[in-house]
Amino acid sequence: MATWENEFPVKRECAHFNHAGMCPLPARVAEAVSDMVDGQRDRGTADYPKWQKVAARGRRRIGKLIGAAADEIAYVKSTTAGLIIAAESIPWIEGDNAVVANIEFPANVYPWLNLARRDVETRLVPARDGHLTLDDYANVVDDRTRAVAVSWVQFATGQRSDLAALAELAHSHGAYLVVDGIQGMGALEIDVEALGVDLLAADGHKWLLSVEGCGALYVSRRILGDLEPFWLGWTGVCNAMDFLDYCPEPLPDAKRFEEGSLNIVGIHALDAAAGLLLEVGPADIERRIIALTDRLLEGLRVLDCTITSPLGARERSGIICFQHRAAASEEIVAALSASGIVTTDRFDSVRLSPHFYNDEDEVDRCLQVVGEIVGA
Ligand SMILES: Cc1ncc(COP(=O)(O)O)c(C=O)c1O
Repeated sequence: MATWENEFPVKRECAHFNHAGMCPLPARVAEAVSDMVDGQRDRGTADYPKWQKVAARGRRRIGKLIGAAADEIAYVKSTTAGLIIAAESIPWIEGDNAVVANIEFPANVYPWLNLARRDVETRLVPARDGHLTLDDYANVVDDRTRAVAVSWVQFATGQRSDLAALAELAHSHGAYLVVDGIQGMGALEIDVEALGVDLLAADGHKWLLSVEGCGALYVSRRILGDLEPFWLGWTGVCNAMDFLDYCPEPLPDAKRFEEGSLNIVGIHALDAAAGLLLEVGPADIERRIIALTDRLLEGLRVLDCTITSPLGARERSGIICFQHRAAASEEIVAALSASGIVTTDRFDSVRLSPHFYNDEDEVDRCLQVVGEIVGA
């Protein structure tokens, strides 16, 4: 793979292994934003038709990245916003339940807990040693379950979920599979249609290489008609431009969930980032990330680190977590940071999350610093 210094100026400053936190921006993403903003500064709304085209292309690109059609994509403010739309739009009956693991990032918990006011129970699947199996979910799901809500990749362990199996489990009980996709989208290959995912939400600022505050919600057209849009705004209706002809007919596609003016600055970033990811190719990106994490794992084992992420081929992701008895994880993160290597820690483990443009030299520098601090 070509060297990426020009596309990723961050490489001149530091080795960035924190895409599970927030990404550095590729040059073309920063340029797309500044060109758009400069245009609005200099020409006001003259570029508006161009912006609309970028928004339409961004939808197509995001769809293509995950195996969906453009009309199954709505722009949303955040992962949480997408999950709230999902949670509130499912046609609940009093006494139904939503199922979610007890180690989920809170973005995928509060939208479900908040359904208590509608007499919907949220059932927490207990993880064992931070690990989740299909059986753990199967033990909690029943015929009153209307949603199984999972992270594609768990934020604190990097465990990748078996979405096909979870979709089958959910569907066999008449429930929807709702996916918090932010820790996988942009890093791992996915075909939402083939897997049977019903809804998936992700903001742009992690593996998608875009900015915060502008993400996407996928709504499968299989289920669009089942949902009851919990909000209806002026851009979500069929005759949006007939301002005074109030006709509450929702658009026939996922755009019905877009309530008002779009975050057009964020969309310029997301569109450019999705263009880059498609150019490199989701399969090659995933292969490259796995190769880099393989190298990290090999080096960490030599240093006698304990790997706290699951290591099965189907459970691996872009996230690798580790500990070492000789140093606290915060100490290791601080030492790495002092050497220009950006990481973070979660629950007593150092979390490393490289992207496709990272390279072997950066991995080896990281391993060298870890070796120095743990005295190996
Ligand atoms: C699994 C997961 N979901 C969601 C988020 C963030 O959600 P939002 O985009 O709503 O800020 C994070 C951020 O760390 C995350 O790790």
